[in-house]
Amino acid sequence: MIRSVIQGVGSYLPEKILTNAELAQKVDTSDEWIVDRSGIRERHVAAEGEKTSDLAIAAIRKALASAGRDGKDIDLFIVATTTPDHTFPATAARVQAALGRPGVPSFDVQAVCSGFIYGLAVADNFIKAGQAKSAVVVGAEVMTRLLDWTDRGTCVLFGDGAGAVVLSAEDGKGATSDRGILSTHLHSDGRHYDMLFADGGPSSTQTSGHIRMKGKEVFRHAVVNLADAVQEALEANKISINDVDWLVPHQANKRILDGTAQKLGLDPAKVIITVDRHANTSAASIPLALTAGVEDGRIKPGQMVLMEAMGGGFTWGSALVRM
Ligand code: UT7
Repeated sequence: MIRSVIQGVGSYLPEKILTNAELAQKVDTSDEWIVDRSGIRERHVAAEGEKTSDLAIAAIRKALASAGRDGKDIDLFIVATTTPDHTFPATAARVQAALGRPGVPSFDVQAVCSGFIYGLAVADNFIKAGQAKSAVVVGAEVMTRLLDWTDRGTCVLFGDGAGAVVLSAEDGKGATSDRGILSTHLHSDGRHYDMLFADGGPSSTQTSGHIRMKGKEVFRHAVVNLADAVQEALEANKISINDVDWLVPHQANKRILDGTAQKLGLDPAKVIITVDRHANTSAASIPLALTAGVEDGRIKPGQMVLMEAMGGGFTWGSALVRM
């Protein structure tokens, strides 16, 4: 059985850090409120002129280096983003032009905060179908460009960044002892379209719009959907939560992470948390957290990692991976 093995990880964060205290000078909020309600202490903000593709390319370069690979050998480039450089072409086109071999497929995936899980699932299916022997999946976002800085309910929650993985086809036994992606599980429910959305777009307002969110409702759905997505991955692989070495969740809110871990009966020490430093970076948050865990030595080769996300749409899903 073909498995998509994560050969390398890498991330990039813009240099500028915006603290809660600095935000409190712009909008009617406080460090105490933001930390208490979300766990966020600071976020990175892209420099003027710094685009999603710049963040993506920087993260992929590091992932390729950690995999010992050259971009010219990669068969497929997938960019998960909600904040493309342009309405078209895909941001993936710029990424492929900068790093890839001319002619290989590249495209963007739009599933907001679940975008990395969606991208990973698509790449895994390409690899399992024999259509690619290697792939790069990057989550890259400049969410701060979609913020309404007068809306304190949203502008304190998001940040910018990018994280990437390099996948490579390897033979496995079809067992959970195999290295690589063991399963992916995707869901959406468009009835909740208006709970978390940007109030603009080319076909409606001819603008990009700003993030609008019914925070409490999103929160409620998130804890339920994320626990379900984790349970689904465990059942599909006939394992228990105790077999999971690390949960690498989408980083939206520390209280959601704590609530999900508690609902699952998971030791909080097994959850990789970056929301305090990165805030919500949408599709970039999981690969940023994964890279942080690998680079600081917590996530080791051979360990079982469960990723999960939930975002606008709603979209949600999970991916179980042996590193
Ligand atoms: O990535 C995709 C998924 N996104 C999420 O998962 C986000 C989900 N939602 C959340 O994380 C939380 O709902 C929030 C952090 C957005 C809000 O936390 P909350 O505990 O649900 O607070 P709330 O919206 O009920 O607001 C409580 C109070 C309100 O005041 P009143 O009406 O009770 O007087 C708000 O006006 O806090 C006020 N408030 C603020 N105060 C200071 C809202 N934003 C702020 C702020 N600073 N930034």
